[in-house]
Amino acid sequence: MKNILILGASGTVGTAVFRHFSCDKNFSTFGTCFSAVQGKTSSLIHFSVEFPDDICSILRQVRPDIVISALRGDYDKQLATHENVTEYLMTNGGRLIYLSSVNVFDGGCDRPHYEEDVRISNSDYGQFKIQCEDLLRNRMGNRAILIRLPFVWGRNSPRFQEVKAGCEKGQLEIYTDLFSNHVSDLQIAQTIQWIIHENKDGVFHIGTSDVISYQRFIEQLIAAAGMKLPQFTFRRGPGIMAAISSRKDIPVMLKWTTGKLIQYLCCEGGRT
Ligand SMILES: NC(=O)c1ccc[n+]([C@@H]2O[C@H](COP(=O)([O-])OP(=O)(O)OC[C@H]3O[C@@H](n4cnc5c(N)ncnc54)[C@H](OP(=O)(O)O)[C@@H]3O)[C@@H](O)[C@H]2O)c1
Repeated sequence: MKNILILGASGTVGTAVFRHFSCDKNFSTFGTCFSAVQGKTSSLIHFSVEFPDDICSILRQVRPDIVISALRGDYDKQLATHENVTEYLMTNGGRLIYLSSVNVFDGGCDRPHYEEDVRISNSDYGQFKIQCEDLLRNRMGNRAILIRLPFVWGRNSPRFQEVKAGCEKGQLEIYTDLFSNHVSDLQIAQTIQWIIHENKDGVFHIGTSDVISYQRFIEQLIAAAGMKLPQFTFRRGPGIMAAISSRKDIPVMLKWTTGKLIQYLCCEGGRT
C-alpha cells in the first residue's frame, strides 16, 4: 500500500482527489487543511503555509510515496513549503504531482496552449506558477509531474455557487472576449489516479477538449441546471485561455467534452 499526502485537501481540487483516493484500496490517503474544520479522523492534518517548516514533521509522520500539491496561500511561503517537500522526497524517495495553471501562458492569449509550448505570463499568479514549476523540475527532474488546469468546476465549487447565486439574484458578472476550456474536479482526480497507476511522468494539460466562449459556457450551464437566465454584466477577458493536451497516451475515458462536464455538474448525487 502506498501513502499519499494531498496538500490543500480541503479545497475544490483537493477534496475531490482526497475522496477519490480514499476509495482506492491501494492507497492510504492523508491531507492538509488550513481553515477547514478537521474531521474526527487523523487523515486531515492542519497546516499553514505561513510556517513552511511545519510541513517537515507532517512528512515524517505520513511518510508519503506521493505528494499532490493543491495548495494556495502566500507565494514565497508556498515556494519554501515546496522546497521542503522536494528535499524530503529526494532524500526518502517518492514523486510529486503539482497543480499548475493555464495562467503560465497568460502572456500569449492569442491561441490555445499545449504542454510543450513556451510559457509566458504577465500576471503575478502565472509568474509564480512558472517559478514553482521550475523549482520542482530543477530539483526533482521527472519525479515532479506538472498538471496545468483551466477553470476548475465542481458541483459545490465556489465558481458554480457564484453562478447559482447570480441566477437567484437575477444578475451575474461574466467574462466577455474570453474563449477557454474548463475542467471538473472529477476529471482531475481520475487523471491523477491514472498517472499514478500507470507510472506516467511529464506535463499534463487536463481539461475539456473543446474551446468555448465563456458566455456560451455559462448559458449552457444555466440551461442544463434549469435555472433562470440572469441579466449579465461584463468583465473584459484576455482572449484565449485554454490548456489543451497534445499527449497521445491519454485514454478515451479521461477525455471530456464541455457537454460531459456540464452534465456531470448538473446531475445530482453520484460520487467524485
Ligand atoms: N480553481 C481553479 O480554477 C484553478 C485553476 C488553475 C489552477 N488551480 C490550482 O489548483 C490548486 C487547487 O486549487 P483550488 O481551486 O482547489 O483551491 P482552493 O479551493 O482555494 O483550495 C486551496 C487549498 O489550500 C489550502 N490553503 C489556503 N490557504 C492556505 C494557507 N495559508 N496555508 C495552508 N493551506 C492553505 C486550503 O485550505 P482550507 O480550505 O482549509 O482553508 C485548501 O485546502 C491551486 O494550486 C490552484 O492554483 C486552480
